Amino acid sequence: MSNMNTDAGMPITLTLESGTYYRCSCGESQDLPFCDGSHQAGENLPFKFEVEERKKVYICSCGKTENQPYCDGSCGVEVP
Ligand code: FES
Repeated sequence: MSNMNTDAGMPITLTLESGTYYRCSCGESQDLPFCDGSHQAGENLPFKFEVEERKKVYICSCGKTENQPYCDGSCGVEVP
């Protein structure tokens, strides 16, 4: 996630339905935080993740997490 905004420091809170998602890692997507295929000319591939059932998620926006795509609190924000 080299192009992530490391100053952001806030997770993106979303409620997602069950399914497969692709977290943009290049920053070029017009559908952030999700991949729209813009990376195809670049090196940064999207991060695929699964959601088993409808739930609230906290997507990392700073690139510091060790649990991509989810915020793990490395940004200093406490997530439930
Ligand atoms: S937003 Fe990246 S660890 Fe919280």
